[in-house]
Amino acid sequence: MAQYTQEPTFVLAPMDGMTRASFRSICFDYGADGATTEMIQSLALGRAKKRLSETFAETMVRYPDERNLAAQLIGSVPAMMAESARRLTAMNRFDAIDINMGCPARTVVGSGNGSALLKTPERALEVMRAVREATDLPVQLKLRLGWDEEHIVAPELIRAAQALGFRSVTLHGRTRSQMYKGPVNTAAIREICASAEIPVYANGGVTCAGDALRFLRETGASGVAIGRAALRQPWIFDDIRRLRVGEPVPERLAPERVGLLKKLAALACGHRPEKVAVSEMRKFALFWLPGLTGYGEVLAALNGITTLDGFNRLLDGYLDGLSRDNDLAIHPELLPPPTLDTV
Ligand SMILES: Cc1cc2nc3c(=O)[nH]c(=O)nc-3n(C[C@H](O)[C@H](O)[C@H](O)COP(=O)(O)O)c2cc1C
Repeated sequence: MAQYTQEPTFVLAPMDGMTRASFRSICFDYGADGATTEMIQSLALGRAKKRLSETFAETMVRYPDERNLAAQLIGSVPAMMAESARRLTAMNRFDAIDINMGCPARTVVGSGNGSALLKTPERALEVMRAVREATDLPVQLKLRLGWDEEHIVAPELIRAAQALGFRSVTLHGRTRSQMYKGPVNTAAIREICASAEIPVYANGGVTCAGDALRFLRETGASGVAIGRAALRQPWIFDDIRRLRVGEPVPERLAPERVGLLKKLAALACGHRPEKVAVSEMRKFALFWLPGLTGYGEVLAALNGITTLDGFNRLLDGYLDGLSRDNDLAIHPELLPPPTLDTV
């Protein structure tokens, strides 16, 4: 086992509609060791003649502070995956190409993509080979354990990835039939890590920094890929670092949370129409404000806001009120019940 020859790494897992440059940048500020773009449809990219949509184009942006950034491709036609890999490589912007064999969405698997490839390992192998041959960038694979309990193919595909010289794999410890629910199979990840000769990132079900470290320990993985918990707590990467060196983990108070929203909005406005970018902030406000006094009213007021200036004024006014009342902390009784569900 080659793991533990280097420091474990904690990376941001790819999330469609979420892991665009602006949000990735927030996670990098908090010390994420790497990130993967949201999935990029290989057919769309391979055939793209016109400009990509403004919303999607941000996923292809790379900020200077982004370390270890992989672009993720999804698709099941080897030639199109290869062509897309060539195009991504020619952009000279990414550190690696990641192949999606995990997405469980019905529309995605219906066309044979994402985790549907786990049902057809021969096709999966062709896709892996085509991408490997099309790029000189490192290639990595993200997959689930298998389609269902009866068809666990991850060990076989990971061996194939090794043989093809892939750089690493990210293993979501669930099957496709589990979607995003049910227990993550830590034992199965551990067994795979024990025999893998390339780094394996364990993925699935991490809810907080302590959890990420426990997951790392229990799986023997080289690192952990964090998805939904990073949406709610992008500071999780900083919390992990602090826990590892024995520093206290601070509570994230209102000024920090409000500051993140303002920063994210400003970055997002650099990529698409102000109105669109500001309206997207609602979902992040829903992640970061709950627990603060009066957050429900702020969320309601956000509905009527269409400009960055209005957004900033609303948040500044809210924060001023909290500061005046010396009420900057999270109140657990105001928190909605804990859940990882974002989909
Ligand atoms: C909203 C959302 C979008 C996702 N999009 C992608 C994607 O584009 N590519 C991918 O490989 N996985 C995607 N995933 C799966 C995550 O990368 C991760 O494997 C999964 O959420 C389990 O990890 P977690 O429990 O830490 O969230 C997505 C998950 C969510 C919740």
